Amino acid sequence: MNVVICDDHQHMNALAAQVFIDLLKSNPQAVLGLATGTTPIGVYQKLIDSYRAGEISFAEVTTFNLDEYIGLHRDHDQSYYYFMHQKLLNHVDIQGQRVFIPSGVEEDYATYCQWYEDRITEAGGIDLQILGIGSDGHIAFNEPGTALGSRTHITELDPQTIRDNSRLFKSIDDVPRRAITMGVATIMEARQIILLATGENKAEAVRDALQGPVSSECTASALQQHPDVTFYLDTAAARLLQNE
Ligand code: F6R
Repeated sequence: MNVVICDDHQHMNALAAQVFIDLLKSNPQAVLGLATGTTPIGVYQKLIDSYRAGEISFAEVTTFNLDEYIGLHRDHDQSYYYFMHQKLLNHVDIQGQRVFIPSGVEEDYATYCQWYEDRITEAGGIDLQILGIGSDGHIAFNEPGTALGSRTHITELDPQTIRDNSRLFKSIDDVPRRAITMGVATIMEARQIILLATGENKAEAVRDALQGPVSSECTASALQQHPDVTFYLDTAAARLLQNE
């Protein structure tokens, strides 16, 4: 795995955004895997800037988001549907029919999860996936204990994730307890993956992901077995890494 440590967040966002920009220039029909959360917001802003500068277009792009809270309707201000539209999709020329964000309000999730997997397959798979990492080592909402062979599924959020994400809700009781998420195996099929992590509270998860055993206790550790992954870290998130 490649690791880029960079203390200037603007520079880090620019480096990560450049991976998308290069891909979209060489393949305007690329399939992108998108993450929500605080970490990628700066990257999305750089992509909006690049689009406005006329460097890239999303007109033929297809996107798949990683996850969504169960029970939140798409117009809830903490839904990931809402987030993605606020932070990126409303500001570029993407076509709505090529935007896939898991729904948090389905009745038959067994059918729906398979439908979501089938859409990814039908699109030809994900060319470039951006990830954040949870302080418990999760990628998407693949919480500790999730099988590394998992595909899109419903999951119970870990108490630590509920605490971490409560910062964005009025109270911790408002944080949904369940989510729909791409599985680890779904993510591992992306042809290229970039993961961003900033801040002290990600340091243990980053160490476990990069230098711990490959284990479902830190689902990000599965990335060690992927052929094309780059971690973009600030020094706080990289603090516990041992020189190898
Ligand atoms: C979001 C997602 C999560 C976040 C992770 C980090 O779609 O899949 O795995 O990437 O929880 O969140 P932030 O960036 O808010 O620290």
